[in-house]
Amino acid sequence: MRHEKRIDPARGKLGVLLPGMGAVTSTFIAGVELHKKGLGDLIGSITQMQTIRLGKRYERRRPLLRDFLPLAKVSDLVFGGWDIFPDSMYQAALKAGVLPEERLRPVRAELEAITPMTAVFDRSYVRNLQGPNVKKAKTKWDLARMLMEDIERFKKRLDVERVVMVWCGSTEVLPQRSKVHESLAEFEKGLKSNSPGIPPSMIYAYAAIKLGIPYANGAPNLSADVPALSELALKTGSPICGKDFKTGQTFMKTVIAPGLQARMLGLIGWYSTNILGNRDGEVLDDPGSFKTKEKSKMSVLDSILEPDVYPRLYSKYAHKVRIDYYPPRGDSKEGWDNIDIAGWLGMPMQIKINFLCRDSILAAPLVLDLALLLDFARRAGLKGIQEWLSFFFKSPMCREDLPPEHNLFIQHLKFKNTVRLLMGEEVLDHSGLDYYDPVRGTPKPAPPPRPMKAAAAKRPPVRTRG
Ligand SMILES: NC(=O)c1ccc[n+]([C@@H]2O[C@H](COP(=O)([O-])OP(=O)(O)OC[C@H]3O[C@@H](n4cnc5c(N)ncnc54)[C@H](O)[C@@H]3O)[C@@H](O)[C@H]2O)c1
Repeated sequence: MRHEKRIDPARGKLGVLLPGMGAVTSTFIAGVELHKKGLGDLIGSITQMQTIRLGKRYERRRPLLRDFLPLAKVSDLVFGGWDIFPDSMYQAALKAGVLPEERLRPVRAELEAITPMTAVFDRSYVRNLQGPNVKKAKTKWDLARMLMEDIERFKKRLDVERVVMVWCGSTEVLPQRSKVHESLAEFEKGLKSNSPGIPPSMIYAYAAIKLGIPYANGAPNLSADVPALSELALKTGSPICGKDFKTGQTFMKTVIAPGLQARMLGLIGWYSTNILGNRDGEVLDDPGSFKTKEKSKMSVLDSILEPDVYPRLYSKYAHKVRIDYYPPRGDSKEGWDNIDIAGWLGMPMQIKINFLCRDSILAAPLVLDLALLLDFARRAGLKGIQEWLSFFFKSPMCREDLPPEHNLFIQHLKFKNTVRLLMGEEVLDHSGLDYYDPVRGTPKPAPPPRPMKAAAAKRPPVRTRG
C-alpha cells in the first residue's frame, strides 16, 4: 500500500482547542509554555523525544519523529477552550495542584491570558459538577452553532491557520446507543429536538467535525464514537480518534498483559484499585460517570489475552477495577494491582504493582502528541477514524466490525509503520531473515563507524530492534 496524497506543510500557528480546562489541560499548556522558554523537557511525548528507525539496520537512519514528520512546531502552538468554571489557566493550574506555584511562575502571564469560553454543559451527564460559565440556548443545535462561532472567533483573534480539538472535559454518564447516533440525518434531527442521546461532548465533537477540524477524545465518553459522527468526519475530511487517554493503571495493564500472553502464562485474577483526590476523582465518585470509566478500563484484558483462543489460560479469570475518591491525594493518584497468575502445571504465583503516579503528568504529553499528529493527519488527507493512534487510548476507536487493538506493543508498531508508510518509507516487519539469506538478500556490510565528536562519544550507542 502506498500513500498517494501530498502532505501539505505546517504553515503558521496551530490552535489547540480544549473543551475542559482542568488539571490535564492546565498541565499541558503550562508544560508547552515552559518549554517554549527553555524551562522544561517534554518528557513522555513520543513526537518530541522518540526516534524512528528507517530502512535496514546498517543504514543507521534514525531521526527523531519530529524531524521525520512534517509536524507543527511546539513554538507555533496557541491555546483556547471552554470550561464551566471561568478560572484562567493559571488559577486552574494552582487549583489542580499538579505543578507547584514556583514552577508555574515563569509562565504566569501566558497562563493568565488564557481564559475559558462559556461551556456547553448539562448536569444530567456530569452529576457531581456545577459551574457558572455555561451557555444558554433553546436547542442543542443552537449550542452547536454557538461553539462553531466561538471557534471562528478564536481563529481570527489569534490569527490561527489550523485548529485541532482535544476533549479534556469530565467523564459523562454514557447515553444509551440509539437511532439518533446511527446516521448524520438522525443526529442533526436530534440536535434540533434536544435528544437526551446527545450529551455535551457530542455537541463539541459535532461542531469541530462539521468545520473539518480534527477531534480527539481524552475521556471515555461516547462523544465522536458513533456512526453519525464518523459519517460527518468522512464528509468534512476530519480525522477523529479516542477514547480515554491511556495513562496510569491501564497503561501498565497493556504492558504486562501482552507479556503474560506472549509467554503463555495463565491469569487467575486481576484486582486493580486506585485512590484519587482531584476533580476527576470527584466526578468519578458518581456511579454514572464511574460506570463509563469502568467500561473503558475493563475492556483491555479480554482483547489482549484472547480467552476464545486460549480458554485453558484465560477463560475464567476474575477482573475487578475500583476508583475511590480520596481528597488528600489530589492529582497524585496511587494504584495497586494484584495479579494472580498460573505457571507450569497450573502452579499459582502473584505479581504486585504499586504505581504512585501523577495523572496529569502522564496525560499532558499525550495531549501534545495527539494535537500534533491529528494536525499532520489532516494535512496528509486522512479522514474518519484514525486507528493508528490507538497507542494513546484505553478504548481505541476502530471500525464497528473490527475488534480494537489494546496491546501497547502492537499499537506502537502500528503507529510507526503507519507513519513510515505515509512518508514513503519501507514498512518494517522486524523478521530480520533477509540479513542471513545468502540467496535473496545479502545485506551490505556495515559502513565503517563515523568519527565521533567528543560529546557524542560519551553518549551510549543507539540500539535498534529486530
Ligand atoms: N489525568 C489522566 O491521566 C486521565 C487519563 C485518562 C482520561 N482522563 C480524562 O480526561 C478528562 C480530564 O481529566 P482532568 O484530570 O483534567 O479532570 P478535571 O476535572 O481536572 O478537568 C475537567 C474539566 O472539564 C470541565 N468540564 C466538564 N464538563 C464540561 C463541558 N461540558 N464543557 C466544558 N468543560 C467541562 C470541568 O469543569 C473540569 O474543569 C477526564 O474526563 C478524565 O477522566 C484523564
